[in-house]
Amino acid sequence: MSEFTEHSTGHPDTDAVHCGEKRWLGSITTPIAYTSTFVFKDMDEVVAFGKKKIDHYEYGRYGNPTREAAERKLAALEGADRCMLFDSGMSAVSATILSLCDQGQHLVITDDAYKQTLNFVSKVLPRFGIDATIVSMGDYKSMADAVRKETVMVISESPTNPYLNIADVDEVVRIARKNKLLSVIDSTFATPLNQRPLDQGVDIVIHSTTKYLGGHNDILGGAVCGRKEVTEPIYEWRRVTGGVVDPMSCYLLIRGLKTFGLRVERLNQTAQQVAEFLEAHTKVRKVYYPGLPSHPHHEIARRQMKGFGAVVTFEIDGDMDDTMAFFNDLKLCLLGPSLGGPETLITHPALMSYYRESREERYRLGIIDELVRLSVGLEDPQDIIADLERGLAKVRQE
Ligand SMILES: Cc1ncc(COP(=O)(O)O)c(C=O)c1O
Repeated sequence: MSEFTEHSTGHPDTDAVHCGEKRWLGSITTPIAYTSTFVFKDMDEVVAFGKKKIDHYEYGRYGNPTREAAERKLAALEGADRCMLFDSGMSAVSATILSLCDQGQHLVITDDAYKQTLNFVSKVLPRFGIDATIVSMGDYKSMADAVRKETVMVISESPTNPYLNIADVDEVVRIARKNKLLSVIDSTFATPLNQRPLDQGVDIVIHSTTKYLGGHNDILGGAVCGRKEVTEPIYEWRRVTGGVVDPMSCYLLIRGLKTFGLRVERLNQTAQQVAEFLEAHTKVRKVYYPGLPSHPHHEIARRQMKGFGAVVTFEIDGDMDDTMAFFNDLKLCLLGPSLGGPETLITHPALMSYYRESREERYRLGIIDELVRLSVGLEDPQDIIADLERGLAKVRQE
């Protein structure tokens, strides 16, 4: 069987096409190894495998060549020794925390992390005797003050949802190193083309591959990237508990990554154009996009990011009725959760992600009635802008 293509040129566009591929049977693409188990020729091979004298796959939960190809490609892009793929972003988040934190230990996490990550930390971890302190995003004094002798990990996202806050990754690393903690960044909204937290000294990077990495709104998946010695407990955890992604999704991830550079470049450009259009619009009260100088974390983003991503959040200058009217007149932007695909997706956080919360609770979290989150897609920027203009025409003006 052919070897994996290891060589990295250090150019992400080339690595996205070539790194990690396993071109067996002369196939230019990595074939989909749709198998749950692997068989041995004879007992000699079994014994040699047991003594680690030969490489051989054994069982699908432990390893699969299509999965390994996708993992190697993503590791090259993220600058990691190792990448481990999971069946969802939340599987990657939960495996990272549960495999690295023991009963009686403690972690620190920022308050605008993904809603289900916060639910996991505040509702599931206490059942396992793991405590957490949730600190305000951007408040590095509180982050440092929250560290106790039982603390083992500090977790942040960057950019965050829906306000696109940017963690100062150097600050997170400084606090983690000073206190001998593991630093973890969920980099889903950025992708390795826009930021590489491992290069800044972060220990573990997490992605929901469901978003930009898969890039086509057709798979669910998660990834954990980092150094071998740091991620070993996560690797062992996955061997035991599962949560591995299926070979078809791995193939789609590999395929999605081949056009990664082109997609992200275009998405960054369109999002900037859309953000500037919205910021200049009289029926938009406020725009949150790290590529705009008006964003509170613009300078941090400029320092640590190559591009600002493709999520733009804004407030309609009106009330709930105006916001409903805006949504109801859109034709191109599709109304639904998630982000990172070719189709522009638009969400109303108040009535979509936060429909279970009371209005008071939503407002406490900053999820106001007029908030809109846009995941810019690959359509012509002028068509996206024309669609938003159509919706905004429905907003009443005093
Ligand atoms: C930043 C972030 N992390 C993790 C997740 C969870 O990923 P998944 O939906 O693939 O489980 C999401 C999902 O939206 C997310 O936005």
